[in-house]
Amino acid sequence: MTNSLITPVGTEAVAGLLEIENQCFRNPWSKHHFTSAINSPQMHVWVYQQKISMAGYIVLYIIEDVLVIANLAVSPDHRRKGIGEDLLNYGLDLGRNQGCGSSILDVRQSNTTAVSLYKKANYIIIGNNKGYYKNPYEDSYVMGRKI
Ligand SMILES: CC(C)(COP(=O)(O)OP(=O)(O)OC[C@H]1O[C@@H](n2cnc3c(N)ncnc32)[C@H](O)[C@@H]1OP(=O)(O)O)[C@@H](O)C(=O)NCCC(=O)NCCS
Repeated sequence: MTNSLITPVGTEAVAGLLEIENQCFRNPWSKHHFTSAINSPQMHVWVYQQKISMAGYIVLYIIEDVLVIANLAVSPDHRRKGIGEDLLNYGLDLGRNQGCGSSILDVRQSNTTAVSLYKKANYIIIGNNKGYYKNPYEDSYVMGRKI
């Protein structure tokens, strides 16, 4: 896509991240969650910048050789343009380049949109975490794939 860029961000991006986060989730990450993620040497926060606006982001970290997708969201104004897929593929490339052999994530069982995105990216359901989500209480699917 022209005039767009996936780039790591610093704490100056937290307000923009929160704006999208609050539009996307009923139990959103707080300012503290994003600040901690950005300041953590283990975590990667990448933003999809389109012209002057932030269109979406992905937050991930690596444990041993496993890439964990911790958060992924696209602003409602920018959906269905392949941005979620681009961010996910960007994360998978990063994991691959850092020697990861697999990737996992949790997703709300009712979040059919995200489940569909992950299935398209070759993740499969490998388990569930009971009561993983609050507000509303819900089990997650644990999804994973080799990378
Ligand atoms: C899930 C989300 C990140 C997808 O972002 P997006 O940029 O709109 O997705 P893309 O355009 O890259 O779509 C890629 C694939 O995802 C799936 N998908 C995306 N939106 C969908 C929808 N409304 N209904 C069904 N499938 C959908 C499709 O498989 C799609 O492939 P296709 O276009 O070939 O059909 C976005 O809807 C979002 O931010 N949702 C709220 C936050 C969230 O649920 N995050 C995931 C937490 S685990």
